[in-house]
Amino acid sequence: RVPEPCALVVFGITGDLARKKLLPAVYDLANRGLLPTNFALLGFARRDWGDTEFAELARDAIRQHARTPWREEVWERLAGSVHFVQGSFDDDTAFDELAGALGELEGSHGIGGNAAFYLSIPPSMFPVVLKQMQRTGMAENTPGRWRRVVVEKPFGTDLASSRELNALVDSVFSADDVFRIDHYLGKETVQNLLALRFANSLFEPIWNGHHVDSVQITMAEDVGIGGRASFYEKTGAARDVLQNHLLQLLALTAMEEPVEFSAEEIRTEKLKVLRAVSLPEDLATSAIRGQYEQGWLAGQRAKGYRQEDGVADDSTTETYAAVRLGVETRRWAGVPFYLRAGKRLPRRVTEIALVFKRAPHLPFADTDTEELGNNQLVVRVQPDEGVTLKFGSKVPGSVMEVRDVSMDFLYGEQFTETSPEAYERLLLDVLLGDATLFPRNAEVEASWAVIDPLEEFWAGSDPEPYRAGEWGPRAADAMLAAEGRRWRRP
Ligand code: BG6
Repeated sequence: RVPEPCALVVFGITGDLARKKLLPAVYDLANRGLLPTNFALLGFARRDWGDTEFAELARDAIRQHARTPWREEVWERLAGSVHFVQGSFDDDTAFDELAGALGELEGSHGIGGNAAFYLSIPPSMFPVVLKQMQRTGMAENTPGRWRRVVVEKPFGTDLASSRELNALVDSVFSADDVFRIDHYLGKETVQNLLALRFANSLFEPIWNGHHVDSVQITMAEDVGIGGRASFYEKTGAARDVLQNHLLQLLALTAMEEPVEFSAEEIRTEKLKVLRAVSLPEDLATSAIRGQYEQGWLAGQRAKGYRQEDGVADDSTTETYAAVRLGVETRRWAGVPFYLRAGKRLPRRVTEIALVFKRAPHLPFADTDTEELGNNQLVVRVQPDEGVTLKFGSKVPGSVMEVRDVSMDFLYGEQFTETSPEAYERLLLDVLLGDATLFPRNAEVEASWAVIDPLEEFWAGSDPEPYRAGEWGPRAADAMLAAEGRRWRRP
């Protein structure tokens, strides 16, 4: 489906996100024929630029980061629809100019007054920008035109601040016009989780605490914090990714079947899960945070977190977090959900693993129970997108020995279609007005209600050290070992 004629306005167009994700996503949409013919892209930033400089930035960004091949004619068409508005966020004149530019484009580009505003800016800037939009009437939906706003995470830094932020956004835009981006929901494999569960009859009967021993959700990154010290220092792994990406994965894994595949029904089911999440009684052994020290990764020496540029040398910010959560529903009572996320781990991998209970009895004398693990169903979110089923099989030979094997479904082998990048998918949904893949504010708040007690518990303590290139601190291994389990080594 192609969206109606519209404009996309990006605040913070010269930032990293815009260059690496948004501009390439706009181009990829254009390249796939998914942008309306009447379309305008407006960039707003402080830099003293005009349309030409903006077009140059866009061209470079697209050439470097777009997923689809470069086609001069697609670019030419897009280049004709980019405009730059220069100003700072407290500058009334600049916002008047922006409102004026939108008005003019209505006529010259036939965008019909429809516009989506993307706040690709630090959350501390949201209030001033939203107030400017309100003042200039830009946020108003008048008959025959829509106005939408896209908000990037982090949505606040705790429950109280996220409530404030939500109230502010909701006072300017109506709830249906607010799109909160959690880019993990735009990933193909994350959406496939719902297909896997609800389009098949095979998995659902065993997708519960009668058969599942535990669930492990891992988001491992080999990279460090790059140039984002000032953001990361006050954020840490739990606020950066546990509060959003990992809890959303948990919600999709644990939710009940929605009545239909619609924004309302899916978000309702996810919210029920998030409200049912429980924290362990003993946070000291079941909520672990770590910080990477100097080590080795892929044969290269990697700095410790405290040695990164812009990081305090006594920083207590965590670069790793692991927690054991429960989901207090009939389906999941008693099943631990182990979540972990970390930077400078051995490899980049995100996966959801359902670890099944062991067979109640093994009649094979020659089988080493160490070699035969629990059956596992692993949804590989990235990279090597696909699904793996791990189960025991007889080792060829004269004795009855059983060993773990795996059966793999790989996207690249089964499909010729390429998946859109997460931002491309989500941007298209914003322009189409489809909110299915965007968390509702109640979900965001329920997620902060899980994170707040962890942050309170950790406040003032030092994270456990782990060496760059290792799978996190020892205490995280001890957490599972104490319950007779082990983290997967994906
Ligand atoms: C972002 C986090 O939301 O997700 C980053 O702020 C993290 O710290 C990134 O690196 C990872 O995204 P992806 O899509 O590369 O897994």
